Amino acid sequence: MQEKQLRINVIASNFDELNEIERQLLIKAKEAAQSSYAPYSKFHVGAAVLLENGEVIQGSNQENVAYPSGLCAERVTMFYANSKFPDVAPKMLAIAALSQEGFLHNPISPCGSCRQVLLETEMRYGKNIEVLLFGTDVIYKLKSSKDLLPLAFEKLHNL
Ligand code: THU
Repeated sequence: MQEKQLRINVIASNFDELNEIERQLLIKAKEAAQSSYAPYSKFHVGAAVLLENGEVIQGSNQENVAYPSGLCAERVTMFYANSKFPDVAPKMLAIAALSQEGFLHNPISPCGSCRQVLLETEMRYGKNIEVLLFGTDVIYKLKSSKDLLPLAFEKLHNL
C-alpha cells in the first residue's frame, strides 16, 4: 500500500498582477453576474469565456423552481460558446460570484459537474483552458482546467 499526493497548480494573484486580457475577462465575468436569474439561492454567478478567435461569450446561472432544471454560469457560458462557435477553441474562462453581501472574498469554486464539462471541452479542442476564479481578496489562476479535477473520469476517451 502506498499513500500518494496529487498535485494541482494554482497561482494566487491580485487584480493588478494580472495582464490586461485577464483583467478584462474578469470584468466581463463580474458584469455577467448581473444577468443571473437566481431568485432561489440569491447567489449570482457570472462567467466569461475568451475564444481563440477573440470573441468573448458571457453567461450566468439560470435557476428554476424545479431546482435541478437550473444550470450554473460556467455551463451556460461554455455550452453557448461551443454551440455558437463549434470550431473555435476556448482559451480562458473567468468566473465571479455575487452573494447578498457582494462579490465573494474567496475565489468562487466551480461545482463538480462544471469541472467535468470544462475538462471535456479542453480535451475536445486539444487546447488548455486557463481558468480565473475571482475573489475580492485573491484571484486564483489555473493554467488548465485539468487542475480543477484531479482523478477525472476520462474513460471513454481511452477506448
Ligand atoms: N453556481 C454557479 O453558477 N456556479 C458555480 O460555480 C457554483 C454554483 C450556481 C448554481 C445555483 O444557481 C447557485 O449558484 C447556488 O448554488
